[in-house]
Amino acid sequence: MMGEKIKKHMNEQIKYELESFYIYLSMVAYFHLQNLDGMAHWLRCQAHEEMIHAMKFFDHIIDRDATVTLLDVKQLKTTWNNLLEPWQDAYEHEKFITGKINYLTKISREENDYTSEPLLAWFLNEQIEEEKNTGKIARELAMVESSPEGILLLDRELATRLFTAGSPLDPSVYNPAA
Ligand SMILES: [Fe+2]
Ligand SMILES: [Fe+2]
Repeated sequence: MMGEKIKKHMNEQIKYELESFYIYLSMVAYFHLQNLDGMAHWLRCQAHEEMIHAMKFFDHIIDRDATVTLLDVKQLKTTWNNLLEPWQDAYEHEKFITGKINYLTKISREENDYTSEPLLAWFLNEQIEEEKNTGKIARELAMVESSPEGILLLDRELATRLFTAGSPLDPSVYNPAA
């Protein structure tokens, strides 16, 4: 049985993860338009990951026999003034998400909801990675910002991001008949 407060905030977290998906998808479009397909690729992987994050909370709520309530998703931003801005936004956005995960952890402890702990611990670790990756790319791009060669080199590097996870929306992932 989930407490009311943790349930409410986990439902909100689905929305935040979907908003992350949405803003990274906007960045994918932006970077394709700048001919930086490597950066677009990295962000496409990231957008995919955000959908996985949203579905982790979605499935957790369902598995605990509680109600999933999908909230309105805001379009946070659709265009940027320069190449660095999206990466700075990504870094700031991930810090914002870390704050939300910290808050969820706080509530779960207040409500003695030990069952949420493994999921939230997974997310606390994940946020270390998310802040580290987006912050590093923002700093590296800031270093080479005035060099087309440097930008292209970073773009080629970001094109190598591997992503092997399947879609969390694949019906076979949550198939009662399987
Ligand atoms: Fe996320
Ligand atoms: Fe990640």
